[in-house]
Amino acid sequence: MKRIIALAAGAVLALGSGAALAQQDAKALATGVCSACHGPEGHSISPVFPNLAGQQPAYIILQLEAFRGHARGDPNAQAYMWGMASQLSDVTIKGLADYYAAQKPSPGEAADPALLAEGQRIYTQGIPTQGVPACASCHGPNAAGAGAFPRLAGQHPDYLVAQLVGFQSGTRANAPIMANVVRTMSAQQMKAAAAYAASK
Ligand code: HEC
Ligand code: HEC
Repeated sequence: MKRIIALAAGAVLALGSGAALAQQDAKALATGVCSACHGPEGHSISPVFPNLAGQQPAYIILQLEAFRGHARGDPNAQAYMWGMASQLSDVTIKGLADYYAAQKPSPGEAADPALLAEGQRIYTQGIPTQGVPACASCHGPNAAGAGAFPRLAGQHPDYLVAQLVGFQSGTRANAPIMANVVRTMSAQQMKAAAAYAASK
């Protein structure tokens, strides 16, 4: 009996320190590995690599699970993120999400005023004649996102455009809500909406 209690106490201790270790692991991973592409504290320099700073933690968790399970399978996801996510435990994923969510978001990028004005119309009102809903209804008035709806503010505009194209062409095929949103959008409309959201 004594031995069983000692074993159980040992297991609880091991679990406790395991979670603490995973938090440390997450920060070490983020600053030592993920930073090679996503930049220090989640501010990347190339639009191929999304900024992660200030991203919604629930969204980060969903995406890392989708890379790990191969549900998000556009070419860049396969090339860069499938391998990265394959070894991540649920606890480490949670730690990574908390780490990035706590970083200060990148500032919005400036863009051509005419493009921004067109983007603002789409973002706030949608395109009723084409059945496109207002982006703000899910991503929020300031594009900060909420829960499973990602932050778009401060993201690289070219990354956002690439994702919209992926939703439309079906290469990022695990997002039925967004596939429906972009179904009728032109390349110019996507560019404008992305520029406006990224500028916030
Ligand atoms: C070798 C480069 C590289 C490394 C290292 C890397 N990533 Fe990525 N990551 C990418 C690319 C490229 C994408 C965009 C994939 C796409 O276009 O679908 C991405 C996308 C993501 C996304 C989705 C963001 C969004 O807005 O949808 C998350 C979350 C993410 N990475 C987390 C991580 C974490 C955590 C690590 C470290 C464990 C990591 N990445 C390491 C290249 C990298
Ligand atoms: C009904 C809710 C809803 C509306 C309306 C909506 N979105 Fe989204 N959006 C989502 C969800 C949910 C996701 C996450 C998709 C996933 O699970 O991969 C997303 C993802 C995105 C992404 C990918 C971000 C990243 O970091 O990879 C972009 C870009 C985007 N939305 C832009 C837009 C734009 C532009 C509009 C308006 C034209 C819009 N969204 C309208 C729900 C919505």
